[in-house]
Amino acid sequence: MSPLPAQCGWRLLGFSLFLGSFCFVLESAELGNNATDALNILLIIVDDLRPSLGCYGDKLVRSPNIDQLASHSILFQNAFAQQAVCAPSRVSFLTGRRPDTTRLYDFNSYWRVHSGNFSTIPQYFKENGYMTMSVGKVFHPGISSNHSDDSPYSWSFPPYHPSTEKYENTKTCRGQDGKLHANLLCPVDVADVPEGTLPDKQSTEEAIRLLEKMKTSASPFFLAVGYHKPHIPFRYPKEFQKLYPLENITLAPDPQVPDGLPPVAYNPWMDIREREDVQALNISVPYGPIPVDFQRKIRQSYFASVSYLDTQVGHLLSALDDLHLANNTIIAFTSDHGWALGEHGEWAKYSNFDVTTHVPLMFYVPGKTAPLPGVGEKLFPYQDPFDPTSELMDPGRHIVDLVELVSLFATLAGLAGLQVPPRCPIPSFHVELCREGQNLQKHFQLHDLEEDPHFLGNPRESIAYSQYPRPSDSPQWNSDKPSLKDIKIMGYSIRTIDYRYTVWVGFNPAEFLANFSDIHAGELYFVDSDPLQDHNVYNDSQHGGLSHSLKP
Ligand SMILES: *[C@@H]1O[C@H](CO)[C@@H](O)[C@H](O)[C@H]1NC(C)=O
Ligand SMILES: *[C@@H]1O[C@H](CO)[C@@H](O)[C@H](O)[C@H]1NC(C)=O
Ligand SMILES: *[C@@H]1O[C@H](CO)[C@@H](O)[C@H](O)[C@H]1NC(C)=O
Ligand SMILES: *[C@@H]1O[C@H](CO)[C@@H](O)[C@H](O)[C@H]1NC(C)=O
Ligand SMILES: *[C@@H]1O[C@H](CO)[C@@H](O)[C@H](O)[C@H]1NC(C)=O
Ligand SMILES: *[C@@H]1O[C@H](CO)[C@@H](O)[C@H](O)[C@H]1NC(C)=O
Ligand SMILES: *[C@@H]1O[C@H](CO)[C@@H](O)[C@H](O)[C@H]1NC(C)=O
Ligand SMILES: *[C@@H]1O[C@H](CO)[C@@H](O)[C@H](O)[C@H]1NC(C)=O
Repeated sequence: MSPLPAQCGWRLLGFSLFLGSFCFVLESAELGNNATDALNILLIIVDDLRPSLGCYGDKLVRSPNIDQLASHSILFQNAFAQQAVCAPSRVSFLTGRRPDTTRLYDFNSYWRVHSGNFSTIPQYFKENGYMTMSVGKVFHPGISSNHSDDSPYSWSFPPYHPSTEKYENTKTCRGQDGKLHANLLCPVDVADVPEGTLPDKQSTEEAIRLLEKMKTSASPFFLAVGYHKPHIPFRYPKEFQKLYPLENITLAPDPQVPDGLPPVAYNPWMDIREREDVQALNISVPYGPIPVDFQRKIRQSYFASVSYLDTQVGHLLSALDDLHLANNTIIAFTSDHGWALGEHGEWAKYSNFDVTTHVPLMFYVPGKTAPLPGVGEKLFPYQDPFDPTSELMDPGRHIVDLVELVSLFATLAGLAGLQVPPRCPIPSFHVELCREGQNLQKHFQLHDLEEDPHFLGNPRESIAYSQYPRPSDSPQWNSDKPSLKDIKIMGYSIRTIDYRYTVWVGFNPAEFLANFSDIHAGELYFVDSDPLQDHNVYNDSQHGGLSHSLKP
């Protein structure tokens, strides 16, 4: 095994120790904001959505409403989550701290008592005079948000959860035998399911109800809407399947487990195996494969779920427009992490690959990323994904710089004109309000929008960090989601514009200490020659070229 070169070792060590010193600071908080002209915030968080969207260049997926949002937004083409699993990612970006600071790598602790009493994005807006509201899955439910979505700290009143959430994992999928099953693939007739509706439809309706109330509110609002789809099971209105005839669905371009993949990097996607339709396939653990017909069906259902989600976003934004709130509401759209659709033979999140860490991220800022809508003019008319004549959307402005989801806190504060919380000291466990991410507003001001509306930016030297824990060197039953006490190895991963570099090192979960002298495996993939990350050149590489790119 190659020794870790000194330069990289120092930098990787820097990951846990010196993060604060990495990135240059450029705040442009417009102070002196006041309640009468404060901008509202609508934060849309999607569950397990990789950037399989028209606005990210996907040619197959129909997402006209999200594409329309992108056409009026600044879109980050290279945004990455800090850990590819729900609770750790959400706690990380909602507190603006990395998993090594929240110390949440699993689902089993509440940061306020486990690591530090860290402020959250909604809490900060609440303390600054905003009415803060949560609809659907914003915080991960359970102990990781104290069974209350971090209420009362983060929200002005109790969060809303759709009543039909409880059916997601129950037997509501009609099988070929005519009976109901708890399947992975679950296209439904909405009239036929319990309560005659689905969680994301209910969330959209509740969010619109809240927007209507807010129209006459004296204080600005911060509304977070967390959509459930395309998270498994793929339970969606069955008509969306028609958008994706099976014969048009391709397999992942790299459906094999790569030869040079260290076993510790592989995750055995145990959760889909628990679904009745997958169980029936008797797929070998841990590597599979899944029969190709079924691979196509999974991809079909994921894409159909994305189009269904897109219609919910469409209804929500169209209502925002109808309520004349599109001219004073910032919209941020993102996802907690991606999902592998057969790439590297994997069908889940739970890894450090781009397919699971790469997320959509875009910001609409009224009058800044798009002209203010005129009287009677709509920026977000509902787009029907079934309408084949629907126009291709203007792509909007794309930024290729690498950015991190942990920067959401500083960016939203900055965009709203609030004081951007100070950069965290090291360590910062005792500091309630600070942030480890950057204010991404500096990317907004790169170029004059009027001069060149489609300017693609210059890739700057920037780095996105992700990490993933493992209980063992080889895939086993709990490799996807090890509990804290079972973590023995941590995969620390760096993505630059040129490469992804990951080292899997010994980790002591009692002390939260990574041992960078104890390297279990390494991965190195170059973006230009190996964009899908199938050819691990860690062993071959002298790592000589890396040190330059790793400089901040
Ligand atoms: C708040 O904004 C309004 C409208 O722009 C302005 O008239 C008022 O003077 C501002 N108040 C403060 C305290 O800045
Ligand atoms: C944690 O922060 C909340 C919100 O600011 C505050 O109400 C609470 O008292 C703090 N708890 C502790 C133990 O400091
Ligand atoms: C978590 O919730 C419990 C039960 O509601 C409450 O007693 C406790 O104070 C909460 N923890 C914190 C840190 O607020
Ligand atoms: C499926 O593929 C065919 C051939 O490329 C194409 O003509 C058709 O429009 C596609 N159907 C859909 C729904 O995308
Ligand atoms: C890299 O080297 C290690 C240790 O010799 C070996 O176990 C592993 O299979 C090698 N990986 C590749 C991709 O050659
Ligand atoms: C499942 O697969 C295993 C080995 O791959 C085989 O031994 C077993 O008979 C299969 N079971 C069924 C029900 O097909
Ligand atoms: C937004 O539009 C509404 C309706 O056209 C108008 O009353 C309001 O003043 C506008 N607000 C801003 C900030 O432009
Ligand atoms: C770190 O790992 C090295 C190599 O395995 C080992 O010699 C050393 O004792 C470890 N350090 C700690 C603090 O565990």
